[in-house]
Amino acid sequence: MAWLENLLAVLTAEEKVRLVVGVGPARIVPGAAGETRAVRIVPSITLTDGPSGVRIEGSEKVWYYTTAFPAPIMLASTWNPDVVERVGRAMAEEAKYYGVSVLLAPGLNIHRHPMCGRNFEYFSEDPLLSGRMAAAFVRGVQSVGVAATLKHFVANDQEINRTTIDTIVSERALREIYLKAFEVAVKEGRPWAIMCSYNKLNGRYTCQSEWLLTKVLRDEWGFDGLVMTDWGAGDNPVEQIKAGVDLIMPGNDEIVKWLEEAVRKGALPLQYLDRAVKNVLKLIERTSTARSGVKSVDWDEHARIAYEAAIEGVVLLKNSGALPLKPGTRVAVFGTGQVETLKSGMGSGHNHPRYTITILDGLRKSELVVDEELSSKYEGYVLSKRGKEQLEKLYKCEVMLERLPQDIVSEEEVAKYAERNNVALIVITRISGEGWDRKPVKGDFYLADDEIKLIDMVSKAFHERGKKVIAILNVAGPVEVASWRDKVDAILVIWLPGQEAGKVVADILLGKASPSGKLPLTWPKDWKDVPAAKAPECYPGTPQNNPRFVVYCEDIYVGYRYYDTYNIEPAYEFGYGLSYTKFEYRNLRVEKSETGLRVSLEVINTGNYPGKEVVQVYIKAPQGRIPKPFQELKGFKKTKLLNPGESERIEIEIPLRELASFDIDKKAWAIEPGVYQIRVGSSSRDIRLTATFTIDKELVFSP
Ligand code: BGC
Repeated sequence: MAWLENLLAVLTAEEKVRLVVGVGPARIVPGAAGETRAVRIVPSITLTDGPSGVRIEGSEKVWYYTTAFPAPIMLASTWNPDVVERVGRAMAEEAKYYGVSVLLAPGLNIHRHPMCGRNFEYFSEDPLLSGRMAAAFVRGVQSVGVAATLKHFVANDQEINRTTIDTIVSERALREIYLKAFEVAVKEGRPWAIMCSYNKLNGRYTCQSEWLLTKVLRDEWGFDGLVMTDWGAGDNPVEQIKAGVDLIMPGNDEIVKWLEEAVRKGALPLQYLDRAVKNVLKLIERTSTARSGVKSVDWDEHARIAYEAAIEGVVLLKNSGALPLKPGTRVAVFGTGQVETLKSGMGSGHNHPRYTITILDGLRKSELVVDEELSSKYEGYVLSKRGKEQLEKLYKCEVMLERLPQDIVSEEEVAKYAERNNVALIVITRISGEGWDRKPVKGDFYLADDEIKLIDMVSKAFHERGKKVIAILNVAGPVEVASWRDKVDAILVIWLPGQEAGKVVADILLGKASPSGKLPLTWPKDWKDVPAAKAPECYPGTPQNNPRFVVYCEDIYVGYRYYDTYNIEPAYEFGYGLSYTKFEYRNLRVEKSETGLRVSLEVINTGNYPGKEVVQVYIKAPQGRIPKPFQELKGFKKTKLLNPGESERIEIEIPLRELASFDIDKKAWAIEPGVYQIRVGSSSRDIRLTATFTIDKELVFSP
């Protein structure tokens, strides 16, 4: 780009410094996270969050609404990159409409353990699923000229002491799990920006690591975009620019002075500053169409996209003949979550939609018949405890309020509701957010006594009368279910489903769509089973009450890689999710070439409802020099909507390189010789077809 070279030649060192240090919060777009500084003819551009919708706010007079899409944990549960791409595109259209050039999303940190407060903003415990979903999101966002930002690079997998914690992790686990998600997203999505994280990695702030930001990211993976810091990350701006940061966010005048002085004294050679300036200018150039703005947004269409994504992300954990319900079914709805429905989590990952359809609103508008006396009781209770103002804030996910006791009905009342309704719904909610982790205690990971009491009362009264009980989990992540799941007939996980929440719940209950979501993480039976929870130094770190460092003791054995290898039974395994219909898998064919594998098979809907199935391909490698996990996900594909009797031939390509493990001794990727098993299934533990192939001699690839 000649103009870029010309500009670089005339800019003073001071001007260059101002280009690489941002401003925040943004002044032009209210509520946006930050902007770059305008210098000469170079305009300022605006950056904002985030993963569930464009985060901007209004002044007192004007409120800028944006669509609340399902949280990324739910997007990942769709296992459908096309849906995620549409969400990314819609979000970027809204960003563009409001004059935002850079979206600070997607987040793709690994669900190392289920208590990370920001897991809802991230996709999965598996790097391939995370990376593929992120790549799809990036493609959607960038298709309209807005930059996507992969974050938080890397190993920022807990919120406890997130800005200072030192993550100690082996290079193998980094390469195969934590970096891998980013590698897939960089190579398949070609993002224009990436955000380095708050934490340290093996002793050094990620935003000050040349190894990470230059060697791995640019030299090995070919990343050609801009690297920005997380807001206030690290402690040395000179080190940051030298390591490969291009834009320090949100920045301040002190940092500007610090860098100017470093340039004057030669501590920051100009070549580093020029590299950063070039990348800032390139980003501004790439997003230039975003600045020209769009005149209108099709809000109805975006609501439809949010609805469609949420529908595909609902996971049905259990169904003993309870679902779907018939129109006209009389439903008794228990739990404050019917009123206080959570659309998203808290922190930079929330946004302000025009409306949120609560579960109760959705049910009322549906063909189900809501027991109004019971639901009004919950409505009155919530309003009296919260007050109108707090409730509004809660809908916006702006406040963290104490959980309300759920058992506000007596046994006699429950008996009355059981008598006159056909079915009971119990809504359980759990929020989480930026800056704090969830806790393995009652009222968080474990259900509180009041929740258990409610489940006991409802289950007894309805079951005595031969009626079914359905639990609806409106949650940011897993809660313990093994101790109470036998008391209910169906469990639906609706995650944090965005603004269309109630409509999604009603339509799934009524079978207008069959659930087709699959778990993007292992749903553990108990906290003690979680690999990261084996010792305090592994989580939350040392010293326990205020950790400075955390050791990733489980190494590569994250999520199902641990449960499968060490034979630990989860409550529900990775990739699990039921449907209202049944699918059969047939005619597996595997073709192996020099470059990879082509796996193909036929999926047929043998049940009675239309539905979609997620076909998952796992590979079990032979044990060799490098210890291997039991199996790893290497490909997946969601079918189209299959009517009863209909079938689809699925083809999944797996590049040979994907079979490799990271060999610490050789500092390279290695595929060891031996017999490999291909395992095709409907979940990681529901394998329907298998085949084998052989690798004759070891293959080695450079990173
Ligand atoms: C968060 C980022 C976010 C940024 C700007 C930080 O605190 O960690 O995810 O993009 O703030 O809002």
